[in-house]
Amino acid sequence: MRLTEPGDASPDVLFGRILVTGANGLLGQALVRRLSKDPRYDVLATGRDDHLMASGASCGYTPLDITNTEAVRRVFEDFAPGVVVNCAAMTQVDLCERERERCWQVNVEAVDYLARTCRMVGAHFVQLSTDFVFDGSAGPYKESDRPAPVNFYGKSKLASENVSREAGENRWAVARTILVYGAEAGLSRSNIMLWVRGELSAGREIRVVTDQWRSPTYNVDLAAGVERIIRRRAHGVFHLGGPEMMSVFDFAGRIAQAFDLDASLIRPTDATEFAQPAARPARTGLDLGRAISELGYHPRPIDEALAEIRIKLESWAK
Ligand SMILES: NC(=O)c1ccc[n+]([C@@H]2O[C@H](COP(=O)([O-])OP(=O)(O)OC[C@H]3O[C@@H](n4cnc5c(N)ncnc54)[C@H](OP(=O)(O)O)[C@@H]3O)[C@@H](O)[C@H]2O)c1
Repeated sequence: MRLTEPGDASPDVLFGRILVTGANGLLGQALVRRLSKDPRYDVLATGRDDHLMASGASCGYTPLDITNTEAVRRVFEDFAPGVVVNCAAMTQVDLCERERERCWQVNVEAVDYLARTCRMVGAHFVQLSTDFVFDGSAGPYKESDRPAPVNFYGKSKLASENVSREAGENRWAVARTILVYGAEAGLSRSNIMLWVRGELSAGREIRVVTDQWRSPTYNVDLAAGVERIIRRRAHGVFHLGGPEMMSVFDFAGRIAQAFDLDASLIRPTDATEFAQPAARPARTGLDLGRAISELGYHPRPIDEALAEIRIKLESWAK
């Protein structure tokens, strides 16, 4: 393992006590696995379940619902984190549209409390956000582009970015990401890669939109980007997406190809055919320029990421 890189502290410097919330989610699992492999991090993973799901991660775990302010306060007191990374969120876009109060409680109010508590103890706060803060009329977007969310989830995440600043000047970072895919244990929700693979493996036809464009992000690469923010105590907004922009339909085709599945089962459709409670931005995509130059973030090409996931899933099946 290479322990130092340009801009790093010396190898015997500790990178601190890192509190991760939402650690059993798609990003959370990859992040705690990565952090817990580096002895310079002291990691406490938290989530709503009674145990840590991530395979190959070895770190402390304690159950924590981030909307429970008393429990959050106790964890801060006991663990005294130097960095807090909030991977917890209500991420189901249509559910957020229908259950706005609950969405606001998890995605905004709880984040506000986390950020303020970070300020009190002098911890750096890292909040995850989304391409859905943009309206999708002019992607790919830079960090400096003006947000204009088209649905309630996007509004709540934009508000979460704003309350993150409560952690204090130079003590907050927002990592926006986009259409995250990957395979982790016991996920409470699927992702596009698992869904496409599952349906095509079962020989079922699926309909996928040709008029929504994204830059799909491998959860393991996203975790690597977040780790760079943590290590450098980086400040400000960073776009941590995938390296290739394509329609969701084309991405489904790449998934079929990577898993040797029948791509003819993927039928093209468009947003007008779906009656979804929440509107979706048409063309988002995240410009990675800042993350590449300031963090050294280098997500791998999609086909490489999918090949790695295939190996992982095949090893699980043995
Ligand atoms: N996935 C994407 O395509 C995508 C795209 C753009 C941005 N993001 C952002 O990236 C971040 C990570 O998302 P993800 O992909 O890892 O989503 P995920 O797999 O849905 O993980 C979110 C985790 O948060 C947990 N959680 C929800 N409410 C909680 C609460 N009150 N207290 C503690 N934990 C709670 C969930 O637990 P339960 O299972 O118990 O609900 C889940 O484990 C989020 O901020 C999301 O908005 C994701």
